[in-house]
Parts: sequence; structure tokens; C-alpha cells
Amino acid sequence: MVAVIDFGSQYTQLIARRIRELNVFCEIFPSYVTLETLKKKNVRAVILSGGPGHIYTLEKINFDDRIFDNFFVLGICYGLQILAKHFGGEVVTGEKREYGETIFYPDIDERIFSGVSKKTVVWMSHWDTVVKLPYGFKVIGRTDNTDIAAIKNNEGRIYGLQFHPEVVHTKEGKTILKNFLYSICGFRPEWNPGSMLELVEREIREKVGNEKVVCGLSGGVDSSTLAIILNNVCGKNALSVFVDNGLLRKREGEKIKDIFKGRVNFKYVDAGELFLKRLKGVACPEKKRKIIGNTFIHIFEKEASRFGAKFLAQGTLYPDVIESMSPFGGNSSRIKTHHNVGGLPEKLHLILVEPFKFLFKDEVRGIAKEIGLPDFIINRHPFPGPGLAVRIIGSIDRRRIEILREADSIVIEEMKRAGLYSEIWQAFAVLLPVKSVGVMGDKRTYENVIALRIVKSVDGMTAEWAKVPYDVLGVISNRIVNEVRGVNRIVYDITSKPPATIEWE
Ligand code: XMP
Repeated sequence: MVAVIDFGSQYTQLIARRIRELNVFCEIFPSYVTLETLKKKNVRAVILSGGPGHIYTLEKINFDDRIFDNFFVLGICYGLQILAKHFGGEVVTGEKREYGETIFYPDIDERIFSGVSKKTVVWMSHWDTVVKLPYGFKVIGRTDNTDIAAIKNNEGRIYGLQFHPEVVHTKEGKTILKNFLYSICGFRPEWNPGSMLELVEREIREKVGNEKVVCGLSGGVDSSTLAIILNNVCGKNALSVFVDNGLLRKREGEKIKDIFKGRVNFKYVDAGELFLKRLKGVACPEKKRKIIGNTFIHIFEKEASRFGAKFLAQGTLYPDVIESMSPFGGNSSRIKTHHNVGGLPEKLHLILVEPFKFLFKDEVRGIAKEIGLPDFIINRHPFPGPGLAVRIIGSIDRRRIEILREADSIVIEEMKRAGLYSEIWQAFAVLLPVKSVGVMGDKRTYENVIALRIVKSVDGMTAEWAKVPYDVLGVISNRIVNEVRGVNRIVYDITSKPPATIEWE
């Protein structure tokens, strides 16, 4: 396997994901991991991640440098600087930071750059630079600003790159990682969704053992996949709890009941009244998210205590985790509180089991296929935990939920009819806190405005607004205005993420 050693880069998980995409197994370890631990894990190659640190903070990092003598090594950005310093090179803090896309000139005769263009775009994000080559190394790539942008040792076992091959902006980054893994380290592409499933099952078995576990089931692909795996691993000791928070899509509750009742140990909790009571008059998006998250957790705690469970399993994904991080806690800033992460109370009376925490949605979809979940669930558009609440801007009441639910169902129906549903990451309606004047049947109307949000994305971390044909947008607009009482105007959201987020709240 590959060990990714984390020096605090926001891209560490992305490195791991790229390696998995190349069908090689990898795990992430903290910077203080020892040689013995890695040997026990049967590690063949080590990737040193980038990090926010300056090279002069290196003395403070507790890093086991025996690692350099025992494995194939690839240092990325800060990782390159660490290895350069270790082998007697010189690293200095430059006058200015080099940030963004840069042209890189690789030595294309080197195996690590096999198949890469002579002049290729890479993503740089660094302040410190290697200015003197370490002993026993040679330069194998440059940029206009950086003479030592890629190095390798004479043995051909240790490599370093100043740029980030893991980000999509590095156009041929995947080829470079592939060359490192297959051609230099000798890995074969053997890791697949089946192996990922085994790993998840093993984690559940080791953590939960013969105890009881409650699973928060929302009906989305993540929690549905988890519910089935828990059922396979823990049998009757697992209870999947579906909470109807009154903020679901049209007929959602019934559909979920039909799929899971009889297939797993299943409980339906009707809590719409409770959620609405707690949300009354609340307009602030973060407050809404916190209230919903807390209410979910209280219900799960109650159900767990009834069932005698001390574990709560959630289908939390990696993007939920990074976007919910506090600006004071991690390296990423908090974008919004994803309910199944940031909504957790400080004193949770249950132990969390989150075996998908390091996976992206498309990887979970791979596992879902493996365990035979129906296509209807696998290819469903993501739906946020706080449901329609974060698509009704401002405060929520029954009438506004009903308006949005009807409009949303038309959007989905028409996207499916046009054959566009599966090409799209998400398509939905948002109810704005704005009224506008219209004319219907010769009469003046003064009604609500609905925004359509339709985006393409690979993992929800970035997204582009979808260029849906005008006639499809036209049909959606006509149907909503004609069929949903209380709406007289439709607008189309043409912002990508960033700078906007996918959901409006
Ligand atoms: P944003 O709005 O942050 O959304 O661009 C990124 C993706 O995450 C979904 N989302 C959530 N999923 N709990 C979830 O499970 C949440 O609280 C939550 N908030 C947003 C969103 O629908 C999009 O796919």
C-alpha cells in the first residue's frame, strides 16, 4: 500500500483519492508516524503531503526520517522541501509566494514524466523554494520562476515535486502519479470498490463488534449504502432510523419505507411537527442548520437508548467534513455547518461510526453498485440533511414548504423527462423571500419567486451551472407558474461554485 503522510495540506485527502482512482490502496498517516508502524502495514511507497508550514518550522515536526531509507518516496511541495533539507539541500523563503497555474518543463525522458508534454500546466502554491540541490539528487524539471521544481535521487527511489500533481489544475498530474505508482514503485491497479467495501466492513466489525448500533438513514445514497452494509455486518444489532422532519421532497417518506422495510431492521419516526415548532421564526441559515442537526441527534439518542445502542452510524462524506471545519480547528475555513457534522452537540451520548468519512460521493456510489442497491438510489441527486429548510430562504412555514415541494417535484420530473437527470449533479428549486408583480388572466398578481438551481459537479466541492436547453427551462417555468399556487416568476441561477455554493443556505 501507499502511505500518505499528512503535514496539514488541504489537499491531503485529494492525494489519497487520486491514488484510489488509480486503483492502488492507500491510507493517510499523521506526520509523526513511525517506521515500525508503516512496516507493519506493509507499506511500499510513501507520499509526503504539502503543508502550511515554513521549512524553518521543520525542527518542531516530529518526523521519523528513517522513512527515507526504507520506501519509495514522493515529496509534494512542503514534502519536497522536507526531503531536500534532509539530504543537505538548501531551502529559503522567497520574496513572494508563487501561487496558481504555472508552465512546467519536465525532463520527459524521466520515467515519472513519461507521456507528459514538454511544456505542461501545473498548480503551484508555495513560498519556500529549494535553492541548492540535495546530495545525490538531480533536477528533472523546472519552471520560469523555480530552477529546482522536480528532483530525483540517483537511485531513482526518491522523488520530489514543487507543484501539486493531485489537483485538477495540474493538467497531467494524474499521468505523473500513475507513472510514480505503476512504473517506479511497481504497483498494479488492483484496488477497487469491492476492496473499499471490505475495508468499510472491517472498520464496522472492529468498532462495533457485538454491540448495538443505530444508523441515521436519510434515503440518500450514502446513508442507504451504510444501512445495508450495517445490516450485512451487524444483522439484528443494527437499527436504521428514518426521521421524517417535515422537510422532505414529495412522497419521499413513502418511497424510503417501501425500499427499506423488510430489507433492514427499520424504524420510521414522524417528527415533522417537532422540527417545525423549533424552526418557527428562524431565518438565519446557520441557526436553522444547527437546530435541525440538534433535533436529529436528540431523536437518534432517544431511539438508540430504546434500542440499547451505544453507537450512531452516519454516512458522512469527506466534503461534509472539510466544509464544516471551524476556522480555528483545521486548515480549512467553515463554509457551512453540514448537519451531520457541525450539528453534533458537544456532549454526544453516542459513539460515532462514520466509515465513509474519507470517501467522496462517487466512491460511495461505486460501493452502492457493489452491494446491489437499486439505480434509483445510486443515481439520486444529493439532498442536504436539513432538506427543504435550506432552500426556503428566510423563515419557514407549512405553506412555504408546500409551495417549494410542489415546484421541486416539477423540476425533477422535467429533468428526467428531458433525459438530463443523470447528467446533472443536482437540480432543484429555491423559494426566495421576494414577491413580484405579475399578470394572470388579466388580473394583477403579487406572488413568490422561485429560483432554479441546476449544476454539474464531480464531488460537490466545486460546481458549474448547467447549460440546460432553453426549451426545458421554459417547460419547467410554465409548469411551476401554472401548477403551483403562489408562484408567478421563475429565475435561473447562473453562478458556479465557487464563488456561490450549491445550496442557497
Ligand atoms: P454546498 O451548498 O455546500 O453543498 O455547495 C455541497 C453539497 O453538499 C450537499 N449539502 C449537504 N449534505 N448535509 C448533507 O448531507 C448537509 O447539511 C448539507 N448541506 C449541503 C449539497 O446538497 C451539495 O450536494
